[in-house]
Amino acid sequence: MTNRNHQGRPSCEEALPAETRHDAQSLLSVDGGDEPPTNFSNNRPFGAVIGQYYSRRQVLQGSLQAAVAGLFAAGPGAALAASPGRSAQGRARPGFEGELGFEAIPVYNGDEVSVAPGYSAEAFLVVGEPILGPDVGNPAANTVEAFENCSGAEMEQRIGSHHDGMTYFPFGSDPNNHGVICINHEYIDARKLFPASGPNAWVSSGTRPADQIRKGIAAHGVSVVEIKRDKATGKWQITTESGLNRRITAETPMVFSGPVRGSDLVRTKYSPDGTMTRGTINNCANGFTPWGTYLTCEENWASYFAAGTQQDAARRELRRYGVTANSRRYGWDNPEINPLTGLPDEPTASPTNPDPYRRFDATPTGFDATEDYRNEPNCQGWNVEIDPFNPDSTPVKHTALGRYAHEGCVVGVPQEGQPLAFYSGDDAQSQYMYKFVTAGRYSRRTAGSHLLETGTLYAAKFNDDGTGEWLALDINDVRFRAAVDRAVADPRSVWPGGQYDDFDGFRDQADVLVNTRLAADVAGATPMDRPEWATVHPSTGEVYFSCTNNSNRGRDTTTNTRPIPAEADAANPRPASAFGHIIRFRERGNRSAATRFNWEIFVLSGPQDDSLDLQGRPLDDTNIHASADGLWLDDRGILWIETDMGSGQQEAEINRFGNNQMLAANPYTGEIRRFFVGCRGQEVTGWADTPDGRTVFVNLQHPGEASESRPVLASTFPDGPGSGGRGRSCTIVITKNDGGVVGT
Ligand code: FEO
Ligand code: CA
Ligand code: CA
Repeated sequence: MTNRNHQGRPSCEEALPAETRHDAQSLLSVDGGDEPPTNFSNNRPFGAVIGQYYSRRQVLQGSLQAAVAGLFAAGPGAALAASPGRSAQGRARPGFEGELGFEAIPVYNGDEVSVAPGYSAEAFLVVGEPILGPDVGNPAANTVEAFENCSGAEMEQRIGSHHDGMTYFPFGSDPNNHGVICINHEYIDARKLFPASGPNAWVSSGTRPADQIRKGIAAHGVSVVEIKRDKATGKWQITTESGLNRRITAETPMVFSGPVRGSDLVRTKYSPDGTMTRGTINNCANGFTPWGTYLTCEENWASYFAAGTQQDAARRELRRYGVTANSRRYGWDNPEINPLTGLPDEPTASPTNPDPYRRFDATPTGFDATEDYRNEPNCQGWNVEIDPFNPDSTPVKHTALGRYAHEGCVVGVPQEGQPLAFYSGDDAQSQYMYKFVTAGRYSRRTAGSHLLETGTLYAAKFNDDGTGEWLALDINDVRFRAAVDRAVADPRSVWPGGQYDDFDGFRDQADVLVNTRLAADVAGATPMDRPEWATVHPSTGEVYFSCTNNSNRGRDTTTNTRPIPAEADAANPRPASAFGHIIRFRERGNRSAATRFNWEIFVLSGPQDDSLDLQGRPLDDTNIHASADGLWLDDRGILWIETDMGSGQQEAEINRFGNNQMLAANPYTGEIRRFFVGCRGQEVTGWADTPDGRTVFVNLQHPGEASESRPVLASTFPDGPGSGGRGRSCTIVITKNDGGVVGT
């Protein structure tokens, strides 16, 4: 096995706060979860905020430039110990200079893809394409119609839907031409999966045909696909030669590790001892480990479950995440009645796979949790480790890293003899950024999955002066215990709206982790503008996070669990942020276990008259963008930025920003250039490359999404106008026509 330090990145659909997401179910049902069009009313004048920002950044700029100068003086890659994961690849590491060597392209709003001059971009790994079984490589099985008409059983052998984060794991024997790619599949569009059902396919009330449930479950999860580049044609192809191809779905058996394993909070009829569960849901961004495994991250899982009654839904481990009595996104809990048996139509009554569909109904019906699925929602919201080189391995849900709407999970630069740090955002309005620090110390020789079983979870607090601190969410931490005691004594000091007046603390660390958001509320973390992807600079160790947007920032809006902060702050400087920003920070002493950091804003995204780059300049025609989501720092030090404007923003801004796009930035100078633009109605997400940097993979998620109600977003990509007018999620292979390194 070869190691590879890689992050991918996700995409997202919703921007609603988790607590209000279900109040907007009707909106979700129209738009596939896109956030509503941004309302610009009630803004504080942007100039006032930016004035504060400028005065603060004068200070920051000085110190950061000094830091950068120091790094350059020390020589590329010398600032931190080299990343074993990256250097183990034998990858060329020319210098981390981050220099951009291509010509920026204009915004584009057509239905093809647009890439910088001298580059090519081709579709690959399309939803519905067979990776297992007799149809691998059969073009007739890889059409829009074949995908739409395939059964649930067939879908279990095909590439899933709504591609998101991904990682390429190279084979040591021919790393640049042969590897395994793991791709997350975030969600589905029922209208594309079962078009014969017509528009009602989307309606989440009522019963569902059993095979539609099976197909929907199979279209979720992760695809593990062996791919190989034909050296004669230069084309990448799916291969089955090593027997590694695998579908992991929303029904695949998984084990728990860490403090929650065996907890009362995850006991179910399926796993009475609370050590296992089934499936991974809404896998958004991703990560990888220095020992060569894949991390897939469960983001917007809450709406897949029905909670029974309002009273049932009041359980804090449901309410704080948005599981409601009415949430049942695809109706998986409610299969049709089988006319032959008179019972709900589920595929098996196997004792090892009981109630595979009805488990999405979390209503307490039994004597205790081992007789029903009241705890099934507690089994989602984790990071899952998958070994791409062992198709028989059981995926592991690592509970020590916390339960929330994980966007991604990226490892800091591994340093021999030091703990590892993993960074992850909770993508919902005014949620938090987190870091997990392993208890064990990293050694290239012994590193493995055990490192993810024990450690400390922290939530980030950003101070207005450019400093920040990591707040431990650890029941044995003195400061956290004191904060819990204060919250128990006076819950309204934390939740002034009275939503958790009955807060009685945490029983144990498992309780803290299942209720990570509450724990971070108590600790005093900073609510952020929808933290999406994180990425780590391979040389400086700086961590970048995208804050995609937050239409409620600064609004006097009260949700049913906590008020949205009424004011912008230095780390989230815009009220009702429509365009978002990218923030970066450096751990004190470049130590993974540091509890302090320094931060600054890398770019305030937006149009020419409402944006700022690192040098304090407005963006221009070559680099305007909105709603940055995916981030990736490649091994040459280029920061790739992928955008995810929701369908409302896409429709409203299609002439100004064009379609969702990917830009490249130089982290040292802050220069940004537009490199790639996708087709209509999609988001660009996911990033992976070969070790030589000559093949880059990105994903186009949901071409044509929401075009039923927003016709301008209609897409036929990649199949073309003859395909029945329906776009399909796919991977894009980007290469330089002269065979060079992408981006340079
Ligand atoms: Fe699934 Fe937050 O993007
Ligand atoms: Ca995302
Ligand atoms: Ca997003």
